[in-house]
Amino acid sequence: MDGNGRWAKKRLMPRSFGHREGVGVIDRIADDVFGRGIEYLTLFAFSTENWKRPADEVKGLLSLFERYLKKNIPKLESKGIVLKILGSEAHLSGRLSSLIAEAEARTGGGTRGTLTIGFDYGGRADIVAAVNRCVDEGRKVSEADFPDFLQTAGMPDPDIVIRTGGEKRISNFLLYQMAYSEIYFSDTLWPDFSSEELDGILADYASTDRRFGGLNGK
Ligand code: IPE
Ligand code: MG
Repeated sequence: MDGNGRWAKKRLMPRSFGHREGVGVIDRIADDVFGRGIEYLTLFAFSTENWKRPADEVKGLLSLFERYLKKNIPKLESKGIVLKILGSEAHLSGRLSSLIAEAEARTGGGTRGTLTIGFDYGGRADIVAAVNRCVDEGRKVSEADFPDFLQTAGMPDPDIVIRTGGEKRISNFLLYQMAYSEIYFSDTLWPDFSSEELDGILADYASTDRRFGGLNGK
C-alpha cells in the first residue's frame, strides 16, 4: 500500500495524514475484492524494514494499526471476514498483541473471505524462520510441504500482486509465495487506488495466459 506519504505531501499535509487516508481505503477495496468472489486479500502495511523510519512516524503507524483493529473487529466479524496478521509480534506492545489475538479469534469462523495484513512482516524473515523450524524438527522438506512452515500456511499463493505508488520492486513482500504471481505496478498513490483500477487489473488478469513454466498452463 505504497504512496501515502507522497499523497499527503501533494496536499501540503504531514505524512501521517496520508497514512490515515490510506487506512480508510482498506474497507472499500476489501468490499470490492470479496464482493467479486475473490477469497483472499493480503495487504502489506508495515515491513520489517519500516522500523528504520523516524520514531514519530513508526509510532503513528503502530497507533493507526491498533485503532484499525479496535474499530474493525466487530465489522469484520459481522461481515464474515477472517482477519489474519502476518509478521513478528516480538516488537509490538502487549496491548497490540492481545488485540491481534482477539481479532483472529473473533473473526476465525468467517466464511466470506480472508483479509490478511502484513505488519512487521518480511518475506526473508518468513523464509528464515520457516527454515529454522525445519532444522529444529530435524526435517528435510519438499516444495510440497515447505509452505506449511511459512506464516501463510494454509493460504493459496497470490494470483495477483499489485504494487501502488510507482516503485517497481517487491520490497521483501511474500518472496517465496510470489514465484508465479502476476505482478501489476501502478503509479497510483495508495489513497487514490480505486475500484475502477482494481476492475481493470482483474479484467487484464482474466485474459492472461498463465503457463507456470509450461506451454498450456497445466
Ligand atoms: C505507505 O506509503 C507504506 C507504509 C510503509 C506505511 P509510504 O509511507 O511508503 O508513502 P510514500 O512512499 O512516502 O509516498
Ligand atoms: Mg513508500
